[in-house]
Amino acid sequence: MAGAKIPLSRVYQSETIDRRILEVVKGGNYILGPECKAFEKELAAYFGVKHVVLSSSWTAAVHLLHIAQGLRPGDEVLVPSLTAFPSIEPMIHVGAKPVFCDIDDTYTIDPNDAKKRITNRTVGILPVHLYGRPANLDAFMQLAKEHNLWIIEDCAQSHGAKWKGKRAGSYTEHAAFSFYPSKNLTCYGDGGAIATQDDEIARKVTMLRNHGRKDKYLHEKVGFNLRFNEIQAAVGREQLKVLDDLNGGRRRAAEWYRRELAGVKGVILPPTDTAGQTETVYHMFVIRLDNHDVREGLAKSLKEQGIESGVHYPVPNHQQPAITELYKDLPSLPKTEDYVKRILSLPMFPSLMEEEVKTVANAIKAYLKH
Ligand SMILES: Cc1ncc(COP(=O)(O)O)c(C=O)c1O
Repeated sequence: MAGAKIPLSRVYQSETIDRRILEVVKGGNYILGPECKAFEKELAAYFGVKHVVLSSSWTAAVHLLHIAQGLRPGDEVLVPSLTAFPSIEPMIHVGAKPVFCDIDDTYTIDPNDAKKRITNRTVGILPVHLYGRPANLDAFMQLAKEHNLWIIEDCAQSHGAKWKGKRAGSYTEHAAFSFYPSKNLTCYGDGGAIATQDDEIARKVTMLRNHGRKDKYLHEKVGFNLRFNEIQAAVGREQLKVLDDLNGGRRRAAEWYRRELAGVKGVILPPTDTAGQTETVYHMFVIRLDNHDVREGLAKSLKEQGIESGVHYPVPNHQQPAITELYKDLPSLPKTEDYVKRILSLPMFPSLMEEEVKTVANAIKAYLKH
């Protein structure tokens, strides 16, 4: 919402970043140079993984990863339906089929529902750490072990989140990150990366993102131009230095929302962290309304008061026209279908102030009373 008094998200900026951008511009090296190399190393160290390979977006990075993995037509991948549409695009582009699963009360993929959907064509699971909260990694690692499946953690919304004290993205063989502007870690534009513990996958993705090059004029495979650039890597490096503080700001804002909205009739707050199990980084603060009829009116009333809200996501992926056109055997997912009518994302960003949270909460309380 352009010019909103309290926007849904706000990007962290600093003079240090401005200076670094100018430095890189003047340096004259723009693509896959030392800034990119350093950013990849620093991300790998932060997340506790062996390799990070940058690409031009999450979607691009995962497309390359699927090719490198050898994902093929006929393969099935378990994925929640409640996620951003791009979560499933790369697998469809290589001919694999998304098998949509329901969520549980944490808004993340329900392991019990996923288990029921395993067939002899299932090859992998793509759990999404939605809204910044890790999915149940223990359950999915167990499922993967029992059925010989790979896992790719979709960490587009969960940079820095933890599962049992370790960073989401470091538990399984592969993970992928987005640096889109609204994300917890951004690079002032589109950008993404895969994280992997596998040397060969890292080598292949590195090669594929740059025209399948083995050497400057030697092409091992037909690849793509899905490279990353130096200016954005410099921005990302500075954002990474303050990521824990930025996430701290989000968690603080979440606590204020919980305090201000506690006990408000008609509002269901997002699940709290499970002691010792999850550390959520609140990419979004998503409430659920008891009565789905009030959502539209509430959002409109907030907008009139200069408060931006959102719905992530109003149409689940198994009901998207692009998907119903492709597949005939789509499941019904009761929880997902119910929740998408009731969810509302409130303003959430690291510099959100206590007064702003009170303004949002008071506007919600006033609307629901009336
Ligand atoms: C959960 C999730 N997965 C994947 C993506 C795709 O990221 P990108 O825009 O970097 O391709 C997004 C971003 O919208 C996302 O939120």
